[in-house]
Amino acid sequence: SLPSLEQLSLVSNQLSGNIIEFQSRSLSSLLLSDNNLHGLIPRSIFELENLRYLGLSSNNLSGTVEFEKFSKLQSLSSLELSYNHLSLSFNHLSNNSWPQLLDLVLSSCNISEFPYFLRASPNLESLHLGSNKLHGLIPRSIFELENLQSLGLSSNNLSGTVEFEKFSKLQSLSDLELSGSHLSLSFNHLSNNSWPQLYSLDLSSCNISEFPYFLRASPNLDTLNLSYNQIQGEVPKWFWDVAKDSLSYLDLSHNFLKGTARHLQWKNLTLYYLDLSHNFLKGTARHLRWKNLGYLNLHNNSLQGELPIPSPSTFFFSISNNQLTGEMPPTICSLTSLQILDLSNNKLGGEIHQCIGNFSQSLSVLDLRNNNFHGVIPGTFSNGNVLRNLDLNGNQLEGSLPRTLLTCRELEVLDLGNNKIQGTFPNWLESLPKLQVLILRSNKFYGEIGKLRIVDLSYNQFSGLLPTKYFEHLTAMINSQEHELKYMGEYYYEDSVVVTIKGFEIEMVKIQTFFTTIDFSSNTFREEISNVIGKLKSLKGLNFSHNELT
Ligand SMILES: *[C@@H]1O[C@H](CO)[C@@H](O)[C@H](O)[C@H]1NC(C)=O
Ligand SMILES: *[C@@H]1O[C@H](CO)[C@@H](O)[C@H](O)[C@H]1NC(C)=O
Ligand SMILES: *[C@@H]1O[C@H](CO)[C@@H](O)[C@H](O)[C@H]1NC(C)=O
Ligand SMILES: *[C@@H]1O[C@H](CO)[C@@H](O)[C@H](O)[C@H]1NC(C)=O
Ligand SMILES: *[C@@H]1O[C@H](CO)[C@@H](O)[C@H](O)[C@H]1NC(C)=O
Repeated sequence: SLPSLEQLSLVSNQLSGNIIEFQSRSLSSLLLSDNNLHGLIPRSIFELENLRYLGLSSNNLSGTVEFEKFSKLQSLSSLELSYNHLSLSFNHLSNNSWPQLLDLVLSSCNISEFPYFLRASPNLESLHLGSNKLHGLIPRSIFELENLQSLGLSSNNLSGTVEFEKFSKLQSLSDLELSGSHLSLSFNHLSNNSWPQLYSLDLSSCNISEFPYFLRASPNLDTLNLSYNQIQGEVPKWFWDVAKDSLSYLDLSHNFLKGTARHLQWKNLTLYYLDLSHNFLKGTARHLRWKNLGYLNLHNNSLQGELPIPSPSTFFFSISNNQLTGEMPPTICSLTSLQILDLSNNKLGGEIHQCIGNFSQSLSVLDLRNNNFHGVIPGTFSNGNVLRNLDLNGNQLEGSLPRTLLTCRELEVLDLGNNKIQGTFPNWLESLPKLQVLILRSNKFYGEIGKLRIVDLSYNQFSGLLPTKYFEHLTAMINSQEHELKYMGEYYYEDSVVVTIKGFEIEMVKIQTFFTTIDFSSNTFREEISNVIGKLKSLKGLNFSHNELT
């Protein structure tokens, strides 16, 4: 007990265990967020009458908490309980109120009803109730919270159509998140209402059918997400002037946008993140002039012509699933900050420049699948590279595998299927410590075979006995203890490979880390199938057909 203690902040440490009962009646600020604390919220916390700031978010606290328990904490100004395993309930018959509340942050607290006391907390500046089980309409009291700056209701099961005009009293609104709330939003183009303070607006998955016209009067907007809606047709001209000097994040993916990609020439000096994927954009995209661009996603449109080269600041560039033609310009190697390059599923041809192997020290995904590249695989991979996924499937590459692949110590996925690569089985790949997926199907490998998750060696000319020793080394499969669904990949890019199941090529867009198949079909392996196979507990697919096994 520290009777005089007024403020205690241990935010973002690695504290574990229970929060013990304690007596520090003077406490006005108790901040324990972002640790690994578990167990119940101790009773003594509900007795801290002087408490103004209580932060317990992002721990692993559990239990059901009736909100009435906070009734003695009448000075509460900020309460943050998000992201634990708590279940919060509100008693609507109670008359309790917390008139001093400014911040109420209760995301992911298993809440099924809106707090009843919002009307009695008129000073609220920040209200976060995302990732809960809220249903029904947004209560009217929320639209009356005139001081609200930040409102989060994403990922709930709300219903009804909300006219955006309803937020007109919330003139200080800076951050609004309604994505995936199951609401439908509508806008009135004739209205003059505006929200000049808006900084971040996330209206993804809100059943929106048009560009919100009020955005013209939001000059401070930094982040705008309108993805996964039903916006149709061309991007209106006025839209490209929205927040011209401040917008840095724009996501318009998964709509029905059409028209040419001419607007990609717009000289917006600030854009950092642009996602226009999954639309119907046509035309060429030759000039990408944004100087500060970091993330550019043009995946799944109908863009034609040559491969555009974005600014050297770009770290993510995907223009996969379009109709690009021509060769890869050597200027691609000027993108020295690239981490992810995805040009898959186009009609690009020519040779792969040698510089592709070492132009960026941070390249982690290189996906050139399903194009018409020919020539040899670059041999310029150098020490210290961080390449994790190399996918060259479905091209016309020939020659042998460059030994410099051994410098790719981080390699997890190597897909060279459906090319014309030659040589004996690259036993030496075994020394790559993280390799989990190796696909060599339909090449010209031959000879005998010497820790992988998905092994596809089908349609080659491998011969001899099945490699028992090799199966013994499939440690990634044997005794796999992974219960949770985990996916290989990283934040911005999910690995995918094409796995042949029942003769159909199926693209596994996410590789579940326990998905394991072995396809040795259509070779000339002979004699017996080893008992070791029986130990591959998490094996999901095994194809030994079209061999000479007895
Ligand atoms: C969180 O607590 C639950 C039990 O309430 C436990 O199953 C889980 O493993 C804990 N998670 C972490 C990350 O400690
Ligand atoms: C709440 O207030 C109403 C009217 O002021 C009163 O009738 C009711 O008894 C109060 N309820 C409780 C639980 O105190
Ligand atoms: C969401 O609400 C609808 C009714 O509005 C209901 O039919 C549906 O089951 C709910 N979904 C979930 C996941 O609770
Ligand atoms: C890439 O490798 C080639 C051949 O080893 C070398 O000449 C070149 O300087 C390297 N480039 C970079 C950027 O490291
Ligand atoms: C096994 O491989 C053969 C030849 O490659 C193919 O025809 C067959 O469809 C495959 N079986 C399954 C179940 O994928």
